[in-house]
Amino acid sequence: MNTIEVKDNVFLLSTRNTSYFFYVNQYKHLEHLHYGCRVRIEDGEELALKRCLAYGATILYKEDPSYSLDQVAQEYGSYGRGDFKEASIELKDDASYTTEFLFDSYEIKDGEVRIPGLPSAYGADKTLIVHLKDEVRKLQLDLYYTIYPEEDVITRRAVLINQSSRKYLLHKLMSFCLDLYEDGLQMMDFCGAWDKETHVNLRDINRGTCSIGSRVGFSSAKQNPGFIVKRKDTNENYGKAWGFNLVYTGNHYSSVSKDEYGIHRIQGGISPERFVYELKKGASFETPEAVLTFSDKGLNDLSHHFHDFINRHIIRSDWKEKERPVLINSWEAFGMDFNKNKLVKLAKQGLSLGMELFVLDDGWFGRRSDDTKGLGDYDCNTKKIPGGIRSLSKEIHDLGMLFGIWVEPECINVDSRLYEKHPEYAIVEKDREMLFGRHQLLMDLTNPEVRDYIVQNVSDLIDKNKVDYIKWDMNRMMDGVSGVYSHEYIKGLYEVLDRVFTPRPHVLFESCSSGGNRFDLGMLCFSPQIWASDDTDPIERIDIQKGLSYLYPLSTVGAHVSASPHLQTLRQTPLETRFTISAYGCLGYELDLNLLSPVEKKEIKKQIAYYKKHRNTFQYGRFYRINEEEQYEQFEVSADETIVSKFRRIVHAAPIYDKLYALGLNDETMYEIVSRPYLHNIRQFGNLINFVLPVKIDANGHLMNEIGKRRGMDAAGQNYRASGAALRSGIYLNNLFLGSGFNDSLRIPLDYGSDMYEIKELKQ
Ligand code: DGJ
Repeated sequence: MNTIEVKDNVFLLSTRNTSYFFYVNQYKHLEHLHYGCRVRIEDGEELALKRCLAYGATILYKEDPSYSLDQVAQEYGSYGRGDFKEASIELKDDASYTTEFLFDSYEIKDGEVRIPGLPSAYGADKTLIVHLKDEVRKLQLDLYYTIYPEEDVITRRAVLINQSSRKYLLHKLMSFCLDLYEDGLQMMDFCGAWDKETHVNLRDINRGTCSIGSRVGFSSAKQNPGFIVKRKDTNENYGKAWGFNLVYTGNHYSSVSKDEYGIHRIQGGISPERFVYELKKGASFETPEAVLTFSDKGLNDLSHHFHDFINRHIIRSDWKEKERPVLINSWEAFGMDFNKNKLVKLAKQGLSLGMELFVLDDGWFGRRSDDTKGLGDYDCNTKKIPGGIRSLSKEIHDLGMLFGIWVEPECINVDSRLYEKHPEYAIVEKDREMLFGRHQLLMDLTNPEVRDYIVQNVSDLIDKNKVDYIKWDMNRMMDGVSGVYSHEYIKGLYEVLDRVFTPRPHVLFESCSSGGNRFDLGMLCFSPQIWASDDTDPIERIDIQKGLSYLYPLSTVGAHVSASPHLQTLRQTPLETRFTISAYGCLGYELDLNLLSPVEKKEIKKQIAYYKKHRNTFQYGRFYRINEEEQYEQFEVSADETIVSKFRRIVHAAPIYDKLYALGLNDETMYEIVSRPYLHNIRQFGNLINFVLPVKIDANGHLMNEIGKRRGMDAAGQNYRASGAALRSGIYLNNLFLGSGFNDSLRIPLDYGSDMYEIKELKQ
């Protein structure tokens, strides 16, 4: 496929199913023509906006009665020459804010061009670089377009070069700008907070501006940098949608503005708030990379573009496209209250249930008996772990498990040995009283000495203790600093991550930031998976993981089964549902396994065996969101086999008939559908159990308690046969229990219940 066609200064960029189209118009402005389904280079003239006469009250360009920049869809909008839409560049010298960039030349390179100091995607087909110049201010603006044809992705970024002999103050330089004509659009973004990340936020785009952004120094759980613009009638399986994300971890800003003529200007990049960058003579400024994709087949298809792109062109290390191990993490099991015996016992229990990786979370170093102390120090607390990390790691390895450990290298407690020695390593505003976040301060990652300290200590920890997995946490927001400082911090962080992890590709790095406060493509360039949320309640997780799935593949999502009632909500949930949601991600367990009953242990052992058998499908299969029924949420993964799960929130009496849907199948093929066997906890039925037992027992008595620990009630085994077409329209499932009688084929409709179905081609 010829991915970049150029004819008479018309540029057509092509991926498998999309075209990105622009040209150099008569005034040398770069004019946008189309971003959508595949078109031909001959279509340029008709795809262009017709300009017979300019609207009234506009500023005409060179007295041309039909040309005002306010009515030109541009590849990069600037201020001062008649365009009053939100500009993508804002810079100033003593005299003026105006810039006007005219086409100068272009070049095409094979593959991608790396960005100095910032991570970016790799494995591209080609890159087009268009050079624009502002001759008055002696500035060059280079626009980069890099093509990933198979994934239907185009990445964009901008570089501003000061060729003058004076300095400029740069306030804003967006990574991309896209002027789109479409009617009836909506913006879908993913917002939340600690414990409730990436909830879908859908709004109509009317006149004015819809925007998202972060000012906490990091990409933030408040508003993820990824977002979607879609037609109002677009749903999961139908219609046009445009997806955007940034390969960046710092403060970001993106906006969609609809002007009076129906042009939507979409742009995104580093947040311009408090951003004043001194662009010295001869210097340049590079934006982070933006990722753009389009589908006219609905949101599931759009997500598949993102998923393939991330798995193939963002994730690095030996863990690229490799199955992730099932882990047991000590945090929700013990907090910081542990000793070596407890840890080893937890690991042994985990191993006996099939877990493969033991992770020692927070609390193992320095004075860290609670979260007010110790951050910054790396010496193991040998009162808790005699023999140190080395001996624990050896014991875990001797058991046959991988060994992982938690660190929070970007933060420092005042109550730490490091702070006593190097208070200057912390970021503080000198003339104000210190403010803490989780009792801690951030370290100054713009200082090379601080970066060296972190690289040295984390590298030693990994190498000396044969660490296989690192959970790199960060629990403090960045406050009281300039936008430029924040950006320099993020560049410092990237340098540190590169120096630690690039020479150690065997280490599985899971990034974390109070859960999902840094779930972004910048971090994913270093860490193949990210801890999605500190909220492990499975019902909460449906929204969190569903939101994430619009932008990120399941192979990147850390998801753990924890104890019920849940720490975050006090809700009680079935063990099956905790597993079902966690299976749509990188499965882990995070609870004290010693407190489980024998029947729960048996169930967990079966869960893990099932997950391992289907792990590749769960982590790398095609993921579909199925929103066909209001009372249920359905998730599907599909590869050589298909696994669909139904999640129920609240049960209603006399329930409506419900169906099972599957989307990733062949219409013509016949399939067998088998429900995953599991046990209901009999204690939850209380005295109702006496309706089905041959003898009567006291639901609150000792006997019931003892039986409940050892026995469960089989969930109805379900078996259906249907074609792919029938499953696409939905097949009816067995009835739910109604209170009018009981038999083995009835499904039990618990609040927060779930069912998982395996769908396989029927062998004739
Ligand atoms: C916040 C993380 O999100 C948790 O998973 C856990 O690692 C704690 N920090 C430990 O302090």
